[in-house]
Amino acid sequence: MGRWLACLGLAAALVSGAARAADATEQALDEYRDMFGDENPAELWELRGQALWTEKRGPRQADLTACDLGLGPGVVAGAYAQLPRWFDDTGRVEDLEMRLVTCITRLQGYSEAEVLARRFGDGDKKSDLEALSVYIAKASSGQPVNIPLRHSAEQRAYALGEAAFFYRAGPHDFACATCHGDNGKRIRLQAMNKLSDAEGARRSYTQIPAYRTSQGEVRTIGWRLYDCFRQQRLPELRFGSEVAVGLSLYLARNAEGGVMAAPSIKR
Ligand code: HEC
Repeated sequence: MGRWLACLGLAAALVSGAARAADATEQALDEYRDMFGDENPAELWELRGQALWTEKRGPRQADLTACDLGLGPGVVAGAYAQLPRWFDDTGRVEDLEMRLVTCITRLQGYSEAEVLARRFGDGDKKSDLEALSVYIAKASSGQPVNIPLRHSAEQRAYALGEAAFFYRAGPHDFACATCHGDNGKRIRLQAMNKLSDAEGARRSYTQIPAYRTSQGEVRTIGWRLYDCFRQQRLPELRFGSEVAVGLSLYLARNAEGGVMAAPSIKR
């Protein structure tokens, strides 16, 4: 009995120790945010993205200002808050990153393989897709997320995203919902949000892309899903696949009405 009590005491101490460490992490992040004030290192990505949008590049020496992100060619303001969405010209639902791949390949003449080879930045090797994503997401800052799901393909993509979110698989039999199904759960000192609910989804989705202090990189929703597939020990998530786009559409729709505040700063 005594040993049991000692065990329980130890468990309680560990739990409160973890909670303290989590509070310390959040406090450190708050201090970091205070230190930067209104400045976010993501601004460097935003500026590079803006330059990439207007620079003539690639085999066709074209810029991206003819790219239609859903609100008409060249319209950047507010576009991210209404993505992912259906596009007539490709006949599929695209998220921001896949739409950028479409525009870069069609307008500038790069191959998809060339663009995807640098889809995620790493140290000196920065990703153009991440920079463009920050520039475009920032131009929706302050706009409410608006995903009306008018097209039947958007409704199907949402249903696929929802099914994927609750689908248990991998060696641990985890679903996204296992880790993201409660508000306030903590994993590796991160406060987790319930992404199937409006409140939790808004809190998370509106903050992405984010500058990650632990990586010194800006990360998009595309990277986030890729990395969570890895954490779930699933096969590699293919960029722009139906599951990837379905999951980002599912999260975006759940976050509808939330106000975009990206890029943010995260651990
Ligand atoms: C094993 C637990 C686990 C599973 C399973 C998991 N994630 Fe995550 N997820 C995390 C952790 C931990 C973070 C916080 C960032 C970090 O430290 O990596 C996170 C962060 C996120 C975020 C960003 C949340 C925010 O507030 O910044 C999103 C969105 C997300 N995950 C979506 C998903 C989706 C969709 C799936 C299913 C394909 C999934 N996750 C599966 C652990 C998990």
